[in-house]
Amino acid sequence: MPLKVPGNWVNEVWIPNSDSVNAVLRGKVVYKAYCLSCHQFDGGGVENLNPPLIKTSFVLGDKARFIQIILKGFDKRVEIDGEDYSNNMPPLNFLTDQQIADVLTYVRNDFGNKATMVKAAEVKAVRAKLAQ
Ligand code: HEC
Repeated sequence: MPLKVPGNWVNEVWIPNSDSVNAVLRGKVVYKAYCLSCHQFDGGGVENLNPPLIKTSFVLGDKARFIQIILKGFDKRVEIDGEDYSNNMPPLNFLTDQQIADVLTYVRNDFGNKATMVKAAEVKAVRAKLAQ
C-alpha cells in the first residue's frame, strides 16, 4: 500500500513535509525490525494474539500513552475494538528516542492511519517521567 506521509494539499497536489517523509521512511525500517513479527506487515495483527494497529485509539490518540506502550510494554488484557489479545508486548526501551519517534510517526501514517508526527523530544520527556 502506498505510504501517506503528513503534508498539505497545495493546488490539489499533496506536498509532503520533508521532515515527515524522512521520519516515516526511517520508522518503517524500525517497524520491520521490531514490530512486524507481531503486528504484521499490514498492521492487521494476528487474531486473538496481537492487536491491529489500524485506527485504534492507542495509535491515533494520546501520543504519551503510545510512547509509554513502547517503553514499558503492554500486558493489560484490555479489549481493543471488542477483541481480546492473549499475547504480551515486551518493553522495547532499548530503542533510542529517535527510533521510537520515527516508528510511531510511521505507524500513525500507514495502515490507513493519519496523524501528526511524534518528535524525539516527546519520547525523551515520557522516558524521563517514567524514570522518576
Ligand atoms: C512480541 C509481540 C509484539 C511486538 C514485538 C510488538 N507488539 Fe505491540 N502489542 C502486542 C500485544 C500482544 C499487544 C496487546 C497486549 C494486551 O492486550 O495485553 C500490543 C499492543 C500494542 C498497542 C496498543 C493496542 C493497539 O493495537 O492499538 C500498540 C499501539 C502497539 N502494540 C504498537 C507496537 C509497536 C509500534 C511495536 C514496535 C515498536 C510493537 N507494538 C511491538 C505485541 C507486540
